[in-house]
Amino acid sequence: MAGDGDCARCCFSFVFTSGLAALFLWLSLRPSKPSFYIEDLSVPGLNLSAAERSNHSILFKVGLRNQMKDKGVGYGDISLLFLYNSTLLVANHTLPAFYQGHGKTAHRIDAADAAGVPWSAAVAALTANGSVRFGVRAATRVKFKIMLWFTRSHALRVAGDVEVGPSGRKLNKKSIKLKSGAAEPHNLWLTFGVATLFTFFFL
Ligand SMILES: *[C@@H]1O[C@H](CO)[C@@H](O)[C@H](O)[C@H]1NC(C)=O
Ligand SMILES: *[C@@H]1O[C@H](CO)[C@@H](O)[C@H](O)[C@H]1NC(C)=O
Ligand SMILES: *[C@@H]1O[C@H](CO)[C@@H](O)[C@H](O)[C@H]1NC(C)=O
Ligand SMILES: *[C@@H]1O[C@H](CO)[C@@H](O)[C@H](O)[C@H]1NC(C)=O
Ligand SMILES: *[C@@H]1O[C@H](CO)[C@@H](O)[C@H](O)[C@H]1NC(C)=O
Repeated sequence: MAGDGDCARCCFSFVFTSGLAALFLWLSLRPSKPSFYIEDLSVPGLNLSAAERSNHSILFKVGLRNQMKDKGVGYGDISLLFLYNSTLLVANHTLPAFYQGHGKTAHRIDAADAAGVPWSAAVAALTANGSVRFGVRAATRVKFKIMLWFTRSHALRVAGDVEVGPSGRKLNKKSIKLKSGAAEPHNLWLTFGVATLFTFFFL
């Protein structure tokens, strides 16, 4: 009888320990998505102090940061959409796919053709209010490189607003971090699911 109890206790602690080990293994292997920043943005066509405002493009500098010390990130083509007043789509630009190593930050400086901005209304709104808002939406797919292998690809969709001032430039000097609208509620369940699976596998 005593032997049975010992066995059950031993069995329980084995299950518990391997479950915990699996949980920590999963947590340490779990990749985190890279961060996306608007580091600078300027619209020469909205520079109220310039005599000539015929340049209808949006000049921008974006930053992509992989904060993981042990995993690389493979980005697919990056789609950037710019929305005047956060509502009207005015530019559709694509940045090419690339690979990013551990803990690296990449910067991209480029110009998007924004012929669709209602230029005279925008100049009027800027003159009246001191700022106009541009929405930026970024979308891509990322794969994580763990040692030699790539995971399957995951969608990355983030967005944010940029206030542009009377010089046509981003008002706030600080970088703007784009955020994903949707939370990721399945992550915790996935974690427990995998921990449970590992436990049964070890049994
Ligand atoms: C706006 O135009 C003025 C005059 O041409 C120029 O000095 C200034 O650098 C421009 N500002 C931006 C943000 O391009
Ligand atoms: C005008 O637009 C082009 C892209 O079309 C850009 O490369 C250039 O820097 C812009 N000029 C100014 C003065 O911002
Ligand atoms: C910007 O959009 C808001 C609605 O989201 C609207 O009320 C406002 O008039 C728009 N402003 C301009 C300058 O188009
Ligand atoms: C942006 O351009 C790409 C390629 O030209 C196109 O496939 C995509 O549908 C466009 N997106 C929007 C929102 O218009
Ligand atoms: C500018 O101000 C007017 C009136 O206060 C407002 O209706 C409009 O939406 C504002 N535009 C922007 C782009 O904020």
